[in-house]
Amino acid sequence: MPTGKKPAEGTEKRSGRRSSLTVRDNRTGGEYEIPIERGAIRALDLRQIKASETDFGLLSYDPSFQNTAACQSGITFIDGDAGLLRYRGYPIEELAGRKSYLEVAYLLIYGRLPGRTELANWLHNITYHTMVHENVKKFMDGFHHDAHPMGMVVSTLAALSTFYPEAKQIHDSEIRQRQIHRLVGKIPTIASFAYRHSLGMSYIYPDNDLSYTANFLAMMYRPSWTARYDSDPVLSKALDTMFVLHADHEQNCSTSTMRTVGSSLADPYVASAAAAAALYGPLHGGANEEVVRMLQEIGTKDKVPQLIRQVKAGKRRLMGFGHRIYKNYDPRARLIKEAAESVFAITGKNKLIDLALALEKVALSDDYFIKRRLYPNVDFYSGIIYQAMGFPTDIFPVLFAIPRMSGWLAHWQEMLMDQEQKITRPRQIYTGPRERHVPEEAT
Ligand code: SDX
Repeated sequence: MPTGKKPAEGTEKRSGRRSSLTVRDNRTGGEYEIPIERGAIRALDLRQIKASETDFGLLSYDPSFQNTAACQSGITFIDGDAGLLRYRGYPIEELAGRKSYLEVAYLLIYGRLPGRTELANWLHNITYHTMVHENVKKFMDGFHHDAHPMGMVVSTLAALSTFYPEAKQIHDSEIRQRQIHRLVGKIPTIASFAYRHSLGMSYIYPDNDLSYTANFLAMMYRPSWTARYDSDPVLSKALDTMFVLHADHEQNCSTSTMRTVGSSLADPYVASAAAAAALYGPLHGGANEEVVRMLQEIGTKDKVPQLIRQVKAGKRRLMGFGHRIYKNYDPRARLIKEAAESVFAITGKNKLIDLALALEKVALSDDYFIKRRLYPNVDFYSGIIYQAMGFPTDIFPVLFAIPRMSGWLAHWQEMLMDQEQKITRPRQIYTGPRERHVPEEAT
């Protein structure tokens, strides 16, 4: 009976124990040795376990991939139990507020913090790719006046694919970097055009003399091209820190979508459009919008117990709480809460923060949330800050997509360079009808 691959030499632990599983198939009595590498077994190693010679072999069944590693990645490390988040090994607490979003974007995509010359070249490349083709404006003008800005951003990212056919040459490094520059540079422009369209205001072109977030704020809020607009440096700095905190989060739903679409060798514009579509969902990046709507619906602290009762009765979810990986406080939520003070010092306090703090306090002392290890996630406080900065609620998911673009592109590029990666095509367990035949037509 096959005993499977022997673990590679040298995998024996210091204790002399082999790093492997010995699996006994009780259907046949067969025993198999399956190597353990980096805390995982290769699912393909299960296929040798057969009930008969004609058997296909075992699959691993993991709906929503709750316990499946789809890739090996060196970009972001999360320890959900300890509440740790590191970008390329740097703790998020050391990057937020100390490195700019574009420095962090470079770190995520290229694996190291940029030197002086690398940073100057990177800033130049991003800055000089912020403009969009004039026809993009015509495309965006076609949306209904009340189109959700996230729907406009998703569609326009895909439309950019038609402006840059060279992007299909995804294995050409120079062409690939040019698309990376274009997507990081253009997404704030597209986001601001979506916002201006919803107000019926003229589009404001990028100003290459401004920083990434100051330029975005000017494109959003400058009254007209002839009017001056200087964003408050504290607010553009706070937004930059928010962008750092939202830049990447390993194999989340939208990043996994970017990898999946990219695995068919589609260009990065349609892949990032698919990723943005996944982020739009209320269980993912759309949660920040839902949190503010939930807090506005509650209105006052005396309504908090009623909301908690509804959640515990399973009638609704506490938006901004819970996480697939974090079973402790999301470190980003803590940093965002700290950033709130600097924003409120300029904008005045958003009264929703007191309601959110009261809600967090009640939830964190309630057994329902403690037992399920539900803590505030990145979305719980972000919307409160964005609202204080004057952003409309429906632009919040777009504010998530702008910085997450660098994370999507980092994973897209890593996937393309990974020799083990092929087109993503999971298996299934078929539960439909057995073979049956179309009845003969009655003559
Ligand atoms: C993001 O993956 C990432 O990294 C995402 C992200 C990133 O940076 O990319 O961190 C960004 O998407 C943050 C999450 C934003 N979403 C929300 O805030 C929406 C509310 N949260 C949930 O819907 C939920 O917590 C998820 C989607 C975030 C995680 O869902 P899981 O891991 O699939 O958890 P689950 O649905 O299996 O829930 C486990 C239990 C269930 O209770 P029981 O069925 O066991 O009784 O916890 C309960 C759930 O009902 N639960 C909640 C809850 N979240 C989970 N109950 C009330 N309120 C919640 N928010």
